Amino acid sequence: MIQKQRGTIDILPGESEVWQWMENKIKETAALYGYSEIRLPTFESSELYKRGVGETSDVVQKEMYSFEDNDRRSITLRPEGTAGVVRSVIENGLASGAMPLPLYYLISCFRYEKPEAGRSREFYQFGVEQFGAENPAADANVISLGYDIFKNLGLDVSLEINSIGCRHCRPIYHKALHDYFESCKDDLCETCLDRLDKNPLRILDCKSPVCSEYAKNAPKTIDYLCPDCKKHLDELKVYLDRAGIKYNVNPKIVRGLDYYQRTVFEFISEDIGSKSTICGGGRYDGLVEELGGPRLPGIGFAMGLTRVMLALKSANKIPEFDTAPALYIASMGDSARLKSFEMSLAFKKHGLNVTFDQVGRSLKAQMKYADKTGAKFSLVLGDSELEAGKATLKNMANGETVEVDINDISDIVDKMQN
Ligand code: HAM
Repeated sequence: MIQKQRGTIDILPGESEVWQWMENKIKETAALYGYSEIRLPTFESSELYKRGVGETSDVVQKEMYSFEDNDRRSITLRPEGTAGVVRSVIENGLASGAMPLPLYYLISCFRYEKPEAGRSREFYQFGVEQFGAENPAADANVISLGYDIFKNLGLDVSLEINSIGCRHCRPIYHKALHDYFESCKDDLCETCLDRLDKNPLRILDCKSPVCSEYAKNAPKTIDYLCPDCKKHLDELKVYLDRAGIKYNVNPKIVRGLDYYQRTVFEFISEDIGSKSTICGGGRYDGLVEELGGPRLPGIGFAMGLTRVMLALKSANKIPEFDTAPALYIASMGDSARLKSFEMSLAFKKHGLNVTFDQVGRSLKAQMKYADKTGAKFSLVLGDSELEAGKATLKNMANGETVEVDINDISDIVDKMQN
């Protein structure tokens, strides 16, 4: 038997209703902040992610699903959403439209990672990107959207923020990091040894035990910020305070992707165990230019929906869903089945989920099926019912019955609802 690929999930009926509920809640919150959806391709040129996400990131170095297509072009399954959104904003001329431009997406992403609880190879993200606002007010507004989403889902999360500086102060910080790691370079893993000269910041999020032990005492970005970056962070704090959003400044948050500048942040959930980052984001003011567009600041975040789902389950925040049919119409014989089909269509005009026998089973088997689906009412149609135009409507919960006119659908609806 062919089985699903390692690190992928099947979302089955029963669970898909919960996913839809969660996604709708998220989209409703995003709409309150004026965000519109953008839908983009699942694969892009590999070059986009190398330049966008960065050659020294784990994602590009180790985790991309890349392949050559029949035209020998290098293609990559999207490992994240930001680079594709930036590509599309530039390509479709949105960069010269009204600003700020707030966009959201619901996507699946692909990363070749070691699968475990909350970490998979195909995973789902809800993400937002907002372009055209450099002021800390934009950072606060984006963070506030993330905060409200978790609040509306009933989840408790904590917020960690940091600044990783800009193109002015980053080189000084890089030098300090380089000098620090140079002294222990014999112990670093091969990937980090390569990163030492290219981008020592990436050593800070290496997952190898030795490198992460050294990273604990490395110089902190926050001690190397230029006055503008410091002011930006201080103003963001004022905005977050005004929103009543609690945060912790955590100098260890550097994020794993290369495009970030200044503000970076993560929402942490206690409900999903060790892999507790449920949402991560930050500012990427140089990325649009880097990918061939104009100078346009940007900020966004993405939340891992598999992790949001885990948190909802462990915090017991998932409501009950009623997907049972309002009515099951059992039938005996071809004419009765045809009539039950016609009636089921009429009930749909009243907004009711009404099912009928499409298999041609015995009456006993039909009633067993009705029971299994949890149908609230049932009605049996045979030749005599067709002739008389009357049938018996049964309340499946208490067994009560009432005679109904099979041609008066509105009356049957009334009887079911009262
Ligand atoms: P990221 O931190 O790589 O950022 O991913 C964002 C979120 O996706 C993570 O916090 C996590 O919840 C989820 N996630 C990541 N990898 C996996 C995985 N293998 N399995 C399950 N969930 C996962 C980004 O992707 C940026 N594009 C976010 C962003 C948008 N920054 C600015 N704008």
